Amino acid sequence: MKPFQSEKHISASETAQMLGISETSVKNWVRHGFIETAVNDKDNCFLEDDVISLRSRILSGDLKRLNSRANKSNSLKTFMPEELFETEEEKRSVSEISSFIMRHNVDVSSAMFFLSLNLLQRKGMLEGTSPEEILYSQDINIKKRKRLSETLLSWRDSLTAEVKPEFFEILKVRIPDHSNITGIIYQSILIEGDKSKLGMYYTPDKVVSEIIGRIASPDNTFLDPCCGTGQFLLAFSDITDNPENIYGIDIDPIAVNVAKINLFMKYSNADFNPKIFYADSLLDFNESILMDDMNRFSEFDCIATNPPWGSHFNKKELKYLKNYYPEILSGESFSYFLVKSLRMLKTGGVLSFVLPESILNVKIHSDIRKYIFNNYHISRIEQKKKIFKNVFSTAAVIDICNIESTEDVEIVNICDSYKIDNERFGRNSNFIFDINVDSADEKILGKVYSCPYLTLKENAIWALGVVTGNNSKYIQEEKNQWNEPVIKGKDVSSFRISDPDTFIKFEPHKFQQTADVSFYRSKEKLIYKYISNRLIFAYDKEQRITLNSANILIPQISGVDIKVIMALFNSELYQYIFQKKFSSVKVLRSHLEELPVPQLKEEQYNYILKLVKEIEAGSSIDDLNEYVYKIFKLKKSEIVHVKSRVK
Ligand SMILES: C[S@@+](CC[C@H](N)C(=O)[O-])C[C@H]1O[C@@H](n2cnc3c(N)ncnc32)[C@H](O)[C@@H]1O
Repeated sequence: MKPFQSEKHISASETAQMLGISETSVKNWVRHGFIETAVNDKDNCFLEDDVISLRSRILSGDLKRLNSRANKSNSLKTFMPEELFETEEEKRSVSEISSFIMRHNVDVSSAMFFLSLNLLQRKGMLEGTSPEEILYSQDINIKKRKRLSETLLSWRDSLTAEVKPEFFEILKVRIPDHSNITGIIYQSILIEGDKSKLGMYYTPDKVVSEIIGRIASPDNTFLDPCCGTGQFLLAFSDITDNPENIYGIDIDPIAVNVAKINLFMKYSNADFNPKIFYADSLLDFNESILMDDMNRFSEFDCIATNPPWGSHFNKKELKYLKNYYPEILSGESFSYFLVKSLRMLKTGGVLSFVLPESILNVKIHSDIRKYIFNNYHISRIEQKKKIFKNVFSTAAVIDICNIESTEDVEIVNICDSYKIDNERFGRNSNFIFDINVDSADEKILGKVYSCPYLTLKENAIWALGVVTGNNSKYIQEEKNQWNEPVIKGKDVSSFRISDPDTFIKFEPHKFQQTADVSFYRSKEKLIYKYISNRLIFAYDKEQRITLNSANILIPQISGVDIKVIMALFNSELYQYIFQKKFSSVKVLRSHLEELPVPQLKEEQYNYILKLVKEIEAGSSIDDLNEYVYKIFKLKKSEIVHVKSRVK
């Protein structure tokens, strides 16, 4: 039984065991911000309490998506990549073609090969030969297309599956008109497990063309270091006449072949050798493939991609990676791709990556933030709503220039855009890219924290709610003579606890985790909602038990009444401070320990207590909000700003 919120540290393997997942999944969960490591730059150390709490939330069904994420790498399911379709008609056709391929067990590479032949034939690019000849003859001689002939020959020779009559049906199907249609069909027939292992989630056209439109010029050299079937390469080909300037690399040989055919079709009148290479960009990548005719190593004007997020590497790979990329401690694939690509960027060049939002503020990614901040110039960060339907994380698109500059960073949020001082990232702990804080916010937060204050760090008792380990067994919906009400997060609102509709027979020894009983039975305590993007605190003097969606705080700052803390933390200004500083959907003890508890005169404390009494009797919170603004001497315009930002 866990007594109360402790500082006990446990290892990654113990964490994996407690959560019933692999150590790799633990690392992935850290990268995505589902759980935090306890010590900076050390990815094998966790707070036992955090792990217990996460486990209970998964068991209680609170985090179904996280649970299924753990199993995704083994999934045999296929998914239609909804985000890639432009019309319903396109989706329907792709669904029919994919179903045909799967129903007839056509192996994936053959299916892509036959689809490519279909498209080339329709475009009149197989002049002088036929699909049958391409399949069976020693030599392929497409008229005026030596390079295309060579590519098809080498792809054909790599196919291992025996050709069946159904394969020829693929030559006849009508394929929707889209420059990367083979890639979209490929995404629809790939099983989820394989996609997840290599991070093979292709980027929707709209996002790709926005990026290329913003950062690339027609005479640039362009690289996508993990190009898939060539989404970014195709978008760049829209603005340049010169296919020789387009470079791509991918570890997936099928995708590389599809990308090459896509480019051949795009420049249908040219006979050229697409510079798209089948290689591991991070490990066995032979730099000589990127040498130019003069044997000079190519550097690029422009690099853009959506790299794999959270790829799995084995021990041997990790050893090499740590050696090649000593800057990166996290083992995260997108960070390796960033370092590798930035090293290949020309002076004055620009790079744009689609990344999970966790790169901005999760502690374990401070390595790559520091590397970028210290060596390059971040010119723009855009927050994107969920781009990928079947991927949990939201995304951020980061543009980085290989120049020295002190220019501000352009921030594009879901609802507005503004500029912020680049240097601030360097002053933040863990190099956090706190893009939600604009210059007006920075001023207001500075003002708040310039008043004399204490914090709850070492000035409070913290306790977690009960984790029963089996809610259906221990929680009842009816009151009886043995049980008592138990408070859940959803019962807690600002200043109020609604009558709980669940009951528990409090037998701590049977539960997976409880705090020391004295904390629940304390004469008075604050109860706060754990999963919330707002601070929601209520007062309890009925010694009630809570479940772990509602945690317990007993402030111990001498001279400051417990209800004053409740009032401050519930006020509008504190919602703003919390949201700006942490942009979190979890209210963590570490967050609360950073909030200021201003040092006030007795009459000010008393006035707050009077306002609390009125609120408890049914008055609105408005007067309290105004009074808290007054305490921190905020001006009218600043208050208007705060109000406009609080969610
Ligand atoms: C998220 S997809 C992006 C594909 C394409 N750039 C796009 O944005 O649509 C990631 C790609 O990285 C490739 N990949 C994964 N690990 C790689 C590696 N070590 N070297 C090269 N490519 C890799 C995968 O095969 C996949 O095509």
